[in-house]
Amino acid sequence: MEKGKKEGRYLRLCTQIKDLLVKSPDITAAMATVSAILYNKMDYFFWCGFYRVDGKRLIVGPYQGPAACQILEGKGVCIASVEQRETIVVPDVHLFPGHIACDSRSRSEIVVPVRNNAGEIIAVLDVDSKDLNSFDETDAVYLEKIVSLLAK
Ligand code: SME
Repeated sequence: MEKGKKEGRYLRLCTQIKDLLVKSPDITAAMATVSAILYNKMDYFFWCGFYRVDGKRLIVGPYQGPAACQILEGKGVCIASVEQRETIVVPDVHLFPGHIACDSRSRSEIVVPVRNNAGEIIAVLDVDSKDLNSFDETDAVYLEKIVSLLAK
């Protein structure tokens, strides 16, 4: 998607998500709302949702799209994002050593850490696309902005 169009769409989503999260009573409601809005408004999102930190493993949280792996452990993009404490953009999942394929149709991916008010990583937002190279710096910037709303 063209950069200006993508930015415009994210800006509208940020406003919508902000307005809804004010009414969200807890983190599960907020994560469910964020994944529903993103999945339905961003047409290249094939899978979109959260994995929550549980010790050294990640347990799937609210998500939209095909049924996903329930627990992630030891390898993969989500675990790498938690360990490196940063967003990871994967242009081609087949080239990422240890990538975990919950659905073989996924070709590219972005994973963004979710922090609480103390700055601890409590979850990740994971988005998959069926196309190669779907995610870039614009996705990283706006998805980081969106997950930061969860800590408020
Ligand atoms: N690909 C992820 C696993 C989660 S699914 O994409 C929904 C990973 O490598 O951690």
